[in-house]
Amino acid sequence: MTTQQVEFEGDELLESHPIAEPLIAGGVRCHGGFDDSGSYVSPRTAKRGPAICAWQAKHAREFGTELLDAPLDAWPGHYPNVAQARFLLQQDIVRPMITTLTRIGTVEGFGAGIRRAAVQNIQRFFAEDIRGTATAHLDKGLYEAHARDEAGFEDEAGHRQMWFAARDIAFEQPDVESQVAQMLELMGLPATFGSGPPSLERLAEMRRRAMQTRQLDDDIDFELESQIARMIRLVFIELAAFRSFSWAEAVLADPELVAGDGEAARLVSYIRADETPHVEYLKTCLTEIRDRTVIGQSGRKYPGRDVVLPLWNRALEQSLSQNRSANRDMQLRALDHELRDHPRKDDLIEEFHSVGDVRPDVDGSWVENTA
Ligand SMILES: [Fe+2]
Ligand SMILES: [Fe+2]
Repeated sequence: MTTQQVEFEGDELLESHPIAEPLIAGGVRCHGGFDDSGSYVSPRTAKRGPAICAWQAKHAREFGTELLDAPLDAWPGHYPNVAQARFLLQQDIVRPMITTLTRIGTVEGFGAGIRRAAVQNIQRFFAEDIRGTATAHLDKGLYEAHARDEAGFEDEAGHRQMWFAARDIAFEQPDVESQVAQMLELMGLPATFGSGPPSLERLAEMRRRAMQTRQLDDDIDFELESQIARMIRLVFIELAAFRSFSWAEAVLADPELVAGDGEAARLVSYIRADETPHVEYLKTCLTEIRDRTVIGQSGRKYPGRDVVLPLWNRALEQSLSQNRSANRDMQLRALDHELRDHPRKDDLIEEFHSVGDVRPDVDGSWVENTA
């Protein structure tokens, strides 16, 4: 279904397609479901899906420019890779995979905070009329739909619980009680992270720090800069997630390694399908802003590209460099901790590295595995 409709009111962008059968995973009612032909249908896409296509088409018509994009291939594959994850499972070392699934689900749950991201009256930052754009709908359903997809809503579970269900199916209800605090610690986050909205003092402190390291001219409203930077971070998180999701699907699809006859992998494939509108609406908004004119606090006008592209380029560079090794370091620390009392620890870690795409060098830096 396509539509030329580009303006939506109230809860329209939250409407779901009618479904023939709901998605139940590990006894939990999840969002989305199956149509008459048995195909999976993502939640809240009845109007949102065609709307994103219509906004993109309208933008291309009016501006004749390409959608801002980053090549998925630029992102490194998941660490550990499929062969390394398989190796660990074959050795009956299941904890790292269980932790990874818990971590992905936990991080998806942080998506609940996306609904708090919207700035009021975003039109005031632009010289042009933004009616009928994705940007004008960020606080009219786009952020809310995204938050619900990630964290669930009312009695329907979202990605957070879908990952936990995939984990519980694949590893037959593992004990994960003690995991979350340890996992957050390894991720370098406080144990209370994500347990509720931060206090007003904490928010003020975060804002003060962010303003000190802001990238754009002080004349550009800091709220607008933060909003754009947040959207860019989200796009890169979503793109990086696609790599993790295909990795998880490949590992969880193997009935020799995990329980559930492929059910866990199927769940991940549904989650992956739900992510597509997230990447698309964010890229659309960033493109719309890039091609418009931003008004500074002094009234001075700035080409949108001078606002969006510096933020985009720096975030891309960070996402592809620092964040990559930080994640590998974290994974390896977790494995080291897991095997701390294992009599064959050194051999196992060496075998683990030998099937990897990358391995740590003597100085701790990451190098291609040429073995
Ligand atoms: Fe998600
Ligand atoms: Fe997402």
